[in-house]
Amino acid sequence: MLERLKQQSPDALLALIKLYAADDRADKIDLGVGVYRTGQGDTPVFAAIKAAEQRLVSEQDSKSYLGPEGDLGFVHALMPYVFGKDATKGGRIEGMQTPGGTGAVRLAVAVAKQAGVSTIHLGVPSWPNHAQILRDVDLETRTFDHANPDGTANLESVLGAIRTAQDGEAVLLHGCCHNPTGIDYSAEQWDQIAAALADSKAMPILDIAYQGLGQGLEEDVAGVRKVLDAVPEALIAYSCDKNFGMYRDRVGALYVMAQSATGLDPILSNLNALARASWSMPPDHGGAAVRLVLRDSDMTAQWLDELETMRNRMRQVRQELANAGKVGPLDLTPLGEQNGLFSVLALSKEQIQALRDEHAIYMAGSGRINIAGLHMGNLEKFVNALEAVTS
Ligand code: LMR
Repeated sequence: MLERLKQQSPDALLALIKLYAADDRADKIDLGVGVYRTGQGDTPVFAAIKAAEQRLVSEQDSKSYLGPEGDLGFVHALMPYVFGKDATKGGRIEGMQTPGGTGAVRLAVAVAKQAGVSTIHLGVPSWPNHAQILRDVDLETRTFDHANPDGTANLESVLGAIRTAQDGEAVLLHGCCHNPTGIDYSAEQWDQIAAALADSKAMPILDIAYQGLGQGLEEDVAGVRKVLDAVPEALIAYSCDKNFGMYRDRVGALYVMAQSATGLDPILSNLNALARASWSMPPDHGGAAVRLVLRDSDMTAQWLDELETMRNRMRQVRQELANAGKVGPLDLTPLGEQNGLFSVLALSKEQIQALRDEHAIYMAGSGRINIAGLHMGNLEKFVNALEAVTS
């Protein structure tokens, strides 16, 4: 029977990791998969996480099962950072640990489907895995344009999607540091999105995968908080992959805001059942390390410091790119206003291939670049290569 299966092409983003590793040119540049890199091109474990892991190894006295909700100490420790002072909104918000942000998005759309959602509105371009997950969960996807050609957010398009959405539909929005465009909604635009959602039957699903990598920890969730203040219910997927550097440890959480505190229990029971049938329980180690960081003021301060260093470095790279201005037909100026790890360059498939073949520069086929793959030592080469392939 298994012979009936057709060959699938490997996930294009993940395949780039192997292609880059196999290239032996010394001056190669990896702008592919979304991992943070230092100015030396490394992706080190956060010092705060190292300290927490050491404590975990010496203090953890059991690896017995926790349950489908995972480490609730971890889940709750994150909540003030995401939701602010009244982190449960009067007992209306609760969460559970998930295997990475992917697990959280998957669980969010699966429970939405169980609640009767059949269609998800998705701004495009989006993180390619969003569409893959929606397909796999068998939900219909309706797309709207996320960005204008000049590198700004297309507000009319998202408002149109929200206003036309019917009962049984949901809108999936990126909380900050939009993947792949880096184009976030402004504070005023979030006000309008929140107001439109308040008047709409559509349920918001908010994906926060880069808190702290854009403008700041609080700034990056200000839009999400406006939405949560305006709507009766929402699902919020969260990833610690980037802002704690936990990538391969798969650390995430799914939060639900219910219409009332008493409405939480049935939703959580469905989430638990879905998690049990999918992965039973999330892996523990990474979430436990994040919990220890957030419960210790010294380790928290160290984490915040490391996060700030990352954010400042990426802002600096963005500024350098923006200063380059027009490179052939490409205008790099808008990159200075965009946020997080990614931006998209309007390059053709042939130009992207030429960058790889002739200049050892690797990026996604969509023209998405990982800003953190650039540093003072390779920026000039990158800009020159862009000029060469576009002229
Ligand atoms: C990315 O977009 O590169 C990251 O979020 C990694 C992934 O899982 O796709």
